[in-house]
Order: sequence, then C-alpha cells, then structure tokens
Amino acid sequence: MSDLNIGLIGSGRIGQVHAGSIADTKGASLAWICDPFIEGAEKLAAEFGGKVTTNPEDVFSAGDVDVIVVASPTPTHLDMIDRAIDAGIHVLCEKPIDLDIAKVEQLRDKANAANVHIAIGFNRRFDPQFESINKRVAAGELGTLEQLVILSRDPGPAPRAYIAVSGGIFRDMTIHDFDMARYFVPDIVEVFAAGANVFSEDIKAENDYDSVSVTMKGRNGEIVVVVNSRHSAYGYDQRLEAFGSDGMLFAHNISPTTVQKYDASGTSNGEPFIDAFLVRYAVSYRRELALFLDGIRDGKNYNPTFDDGRAALILADAATESARTGKTVSVDGKL
Ligand SMILES: NC(=O)c1ccc[n+]([C@@H]2O[C@H](COP(=O)([O-])OP(=O)(O)OC[C@H]3O[C@@H](n4cnc5c(N)ncnc54)[C@H](O)[C@@H]3O)[C@@H](O)[C@H]2O)c1
Repeated sequence: MSDLNIGLIGSGRIGQVHAGSIADTKGASLAWICDPFIEGAEKLAAEFGGKVTTNPEDVFSAGDVDVIVVASPTPTHLDMIDRAIDAGIHVLCEKPIDLDIAKVEQLRDKANAANVHIAIGFNRRFDPQFESINKRVAAGELGTLEQLVILSRDPGPAPRAYIAVSGGIFRDMTIHDFDMARYFVPDIVEVFAAGANVFSEDIKAENDYDSVSVTMKGRNGEIVVVVNSRHSAYGYDQRLEAFGSDGMLFAHNISPTTVQKYDASGTSNGEPFIDAFLVRYAVSYRRELALFLDGIRDGKNYNPTFDDGRAALILADAATESARTGKTVSVDGKL
C-alpha cells in the first residue's frame, strides 16, 4: 500500500490535531503544510515533517498531493474545496462548510459531481461511544427510536473576537449537534429554537446567545432535543441519550480518571470532566482521518458528505430564524 500524500491547510488549533492524526495513521504522509502564518507551519513541519508554504497554490500544483485537509478559517473552506476538485485532490474539510448557505448551494452540483472524495469534519460521528449507540439503534436494539437528547456544553466561552465572526452559536457550536441529530435522524422536518443570554456580556454585545435549546422533529415523529451552553462549571459536557420503544442507550461524560472515592459523605470521583475538546474527541479526529483515507482506497464513503455539511447549515439557519422570531421553522424537503 503506497502512502497517500496529504497537504494540510492551516496550522492552528485543529490543524495541529490533524497533523498528529496524519503522523499516527498508517499509509498517510504529511507532504505539505500551508499557512500564511509561516511560523505555525514551520513548527508543525519540525515535529511531523512536510514542506511549508504560505501559498495554497503550491499545494494544489505540487503534483504529489493526493489529499488536502482543510483546517483554515471557515471563510476559506468552499474555495479550498473548489480548488481541490479542480486539481483532482481529495478533500477533508473542517466544519462548518461555510456560514452562507447561498455560497454552499453555488458549489453543490460541482461538489456532488466531482471525481474526488469530499468529506466534512463532523468528527463526533467517529467518537466510539456515540458511534456505538448509533450502530445499536440502527440494529434495532431500542425498537423504534422515539427521542434523542444531545447535551453539549463548552467549558468556557471563546474570546469575543471569535464570537464576532463565528456566525452565531447555532452555526458555530450547535452545528456539530445538528450533524449528530442527522446521524440518528437524517430526515428532520421541523426546527424550534430558543436562545438566551444568561452569563456573558461579550456574547450579548455581539447579538449572539450563550445558552440555547433546539427541538427538532423527524419525519417519523422522532423528537430530537439539543441543549448547548457556552460555559460549564464542571468541564466539557458531552452526553447523548437515545430513547426507544424498548429502552434507552446513553453515553456519559469522560473523566480524566476512573478512580473514585466512596465514603459516608458520598460516592464520586470528585474531578471535573475532561475539559478540552481536543482531548475529549482525540480518538474521533484520528478515526475520521483514517476512515476518510480508507474510503479513498476502497472507493467508498465513510464520512459525512458535502450535503451533510449543507444540511447542518440549513438546520443552523432554521434554528437562528426560530430563536429570533419565536416561530417553528419547517425544513421539510430542504435537507
Ligand atoms: N471539528 C472540530 O472539532 C473543530 C474544532 C476547532 C475548529 N474547527 C474548525 O476548524 C477551522 C479552523 O479553526 P481553528 O480553531 O483551528 O482556527 P485557528 O485560528 O487556531 O487556526 C487557523 C489557521 O489557519 C491559518 N490560515 C488563515 N488563512 C489561511 C489560508 N488562506 N490558508 C491556509 N491557512 C490559513 C491561520 O493563520 C491559522 O494558523 C474553523 O473552520 C473551525 O470551525 C473544527
């Protein structure tokens, strides 16, 4: 098996995770790292290898690149996908696909007709716990799926400058949960969302919410509830509960330790949950990349597609509209 040569676009927070994944994945080799902040690219190259450049065109025209991993800021995503298609290079692109659905629609036909594999980085589908629940639901262990509850709370809010360009909590944060919702219930028809400002003056000043809930309805009457907060006093809160006619499957948070103390005052491990998404989801990022590369070799698709990225953004737009107007928004036939 010859290595697939990978060009990494962006060497920031998530780019560093992907560089680690490439290094850890058999049959993958980091050929290029591109970042206008060249020091970031150089630092990663020193650790993991690869040539560096500030110009993405060097990666697209190199001739030795099979795959690009796009980990640059969201406004660059569609352009990178478009250029990768033209260059005949497979592309794993970070979420969200974009913040503007009109731009996504413009590239949709070209993306779906492309001869390259295109995946969007909804890594949580590859979390072993959530994936296991999904497979067991699909195998009928719960009978008919009736309700899905997704709880997702960040340890603390991003800086105000990030919030200002994030597209709002639904497009930036809940976007992962919209994809998780569709992982279980692909055909969602209705969205109702509520948003509130309960703790952050910065987020309020940016006309965004710091606390939200979304209730969605699937075609077969499934109810999906998402609850998000931009802060959580006890660490990163990532839980999921699938409830069906024959029972329930749920995944709890992950603690840094399994050591627990039991005494007369109670039973607890007493530590907050793992509070960094890069650590909590480390395995999922690696599996996401490994399966993407497997798919290229097998001629199959194991990852969320361009259209999954589009669908999550449509749900985010619907939730934004619903939270602003107080009305339920139909997405029937739009996903
Ligand atoms: N899947 C996840 O869990 C997850 C987590 C974090 C971020 N993300 C997504 O990844 C993307 C990057 O986020 P981040 O937190 O790593 O941001 P970041 O700011 O830490 O890093 C972005 C990097 O891209 C570089 N860059 C800017 N323009 C570029 C260009 N045209 N070409 C190449 N590099 C360029 C910047 O210099 C910076 O080093 C965002 O779209 C974000 O939504 C996904």
